Amino acid sequence: MKELLAKIREEGQVIDEHILKVDAFLNHQIDPVLMQKIGEAFARYFNKKAVTKIVTLESSGIAPAVMAGLALGVPVVFARKKQSLTLKKNILTTTVYSYTKQEQSDIFISKKFIHPKEQVLIIDDFLARGEAAIGLTRLVQAAQAEVVGIGIVIEKSFQEGRQKLIDLGLDVYSLARIQSLKNNKVAFYESEEA
Ligand code: G4P
Ligand code: NA
Ligand code: NA
Repeated sequence: MKELLAKIREEGQVIDEHILKVDAFLNHQIDPVLMQKIGEAFARYFNKKAVTKIVTLESSGIAPAVMAGLALGVPVVFARKKQSLTLKKNILTTTVYSYTKQEQSDIFISKKFIHPKEQVLIIDDFLARGEAAIGLTRLVQAAQAEVVGIGIVIEKSFQEGRQKLIDLGLDVYSLARIQSLKNNKVAFYESEEA
């Protein structure tokens, strides 16, 4: 998606070979116009599937997920990272390990928001090792619903997440695919630079 690539070039900051900071438009400040285009791009690709719901993980997945939900006309559920006082019964939960943060955390979704046989599109801001997307997939499947695709805003293609998801038979669609962050430079897949 060319507007996203341009934004990453202009405002992304390479922290090291593994981490790209995008707090100017995605992880802290949010660019609503770009986010709407992101939602529409996901909708164009996943329109062929009969998506009934979008599932994401708080907090940075919410903005692109809501825009995709708006474009597809379906509700959006975000898995929570802290079990709220009002979310004690009838929850689905799983443990996700974050390599970036070097810690395990539990994520929660209320059963009442994912029904058996639903066709769920999972959206997230980053794909690194795939832990979050695989954790969300486990929750959806535990609800006896089906994951029809994974939509990612920024994929770090030099990490193994994409391959792990494909090995699970999932349809992965990433709007920006980063081949390398070496030498303080963002290199996209060549097909995307065109
Ligand atoms: P994984 O799910 O693909 O295995 O990734 P990982 O555990 O490494 O990700 C942990 C957190 O770090 C996630 O945010 C993820 O979005 C973020 N992250 C991973 N790689 C990058 C990167 O290169 N740049 C930035 N900016 N973030 C990255 P989170 O903890 O869920 O936080 P939130 O922002 O959603 O609140
Ligand atoms: Na994040
Ligand atoms: Na995230």
